Amino acid sequence: MADRFPLISGNWKMNNNHFEAIQSVQKLSYALTKDDYEVVEVSVHPPFTDVRSVQTVIEADKIDIRLGAQNCHWETKGAFTGEVSPAMLAKLNVVYVIVGHSERRELFGETDEDVNKKVLAVLGQEMTPIMCCGETSTEREAGAAESKVERQVKEGLAGVTKAAVAELVIAYEPIWAIGTGATATAQDAQNMCAHIRSVVSDNFGADAGAGVRIQYGGSVKPTNAAELMSQADIDGALVGGASLDPEDFSRIVNWRLEA
Ligand code: 13P
Repeated sequence: MADRFPLISGNWKMNNNHFEAIQSVQKLSYALTKDDYEVVEVSVHPPFTDVRSVQTVIEADKIDIRLGAQNCHWETKGAFTGEVSPAMLAKLNVVYVIVGHSERRELFGETDEDVNKKVLAVLGQEMTPIMCCGETSTEREAGAAESKVERQVKEGLAGVTKAAVAELVIAYEPIWAIGTGATATAQDAQNMCAHIRSVVSDNFGADAGAGVRIQYGGSVKPTNAAELMSQADIDGALVGGASLDPEDFSRIVNWRLEA
């Protein structure tokens, strides 16, 4: 890892009602210390119904955890039943928005074009996208993993300025490793993250390549976080299941102690 500041993010997916969310953030804040926040940035991404509650706890208790969301629409407002706009999230002081998670792509039909519109809309509200990419096991076996991820990165970031690319976050999440307990080896994860960085450099310049933070996601746990985080091109983790347990998540945030 270069001097990019690591970002460990908890994607709660469709878990925790707003009471549980408040408890979870409070427990996490008790498990982390001031020193932790000096070496790692932490974000939590609750479901929409919890965002306001988590915001209130974070701000009232001055907890140094960034508020995140899991998705958004690209329009600011309008007749889009069931959707939530980036402007609404920005109003709640959301800092990071996950965009193009594989579950959105695979289960809800999001395309690279949709993801691109969302990335631009999130940036337009001065929030930071965490743009996800990753291949299926079939694509990996067919030798198509790198080309798929390259396409997702290029199309997802189309029209984004070089300066904005340098500041945003890309999450590499191999679909076969999500929620399965099967983690990519640290070397495989590193190889793909290095590939993503070179795609960014080729398309947006060396500064963007050097600056963009790349997270690994897919069955990250306290026991494998240290090895993944010690890779040169892995700047953080996007954690699903293990982020639901504040104790486990705090151990991932403190991966240095697990090493
Ligand atoms: P798991 O950590 O449960 O495999 O989920 C990863 C993920 O999809 C995070 O966005």
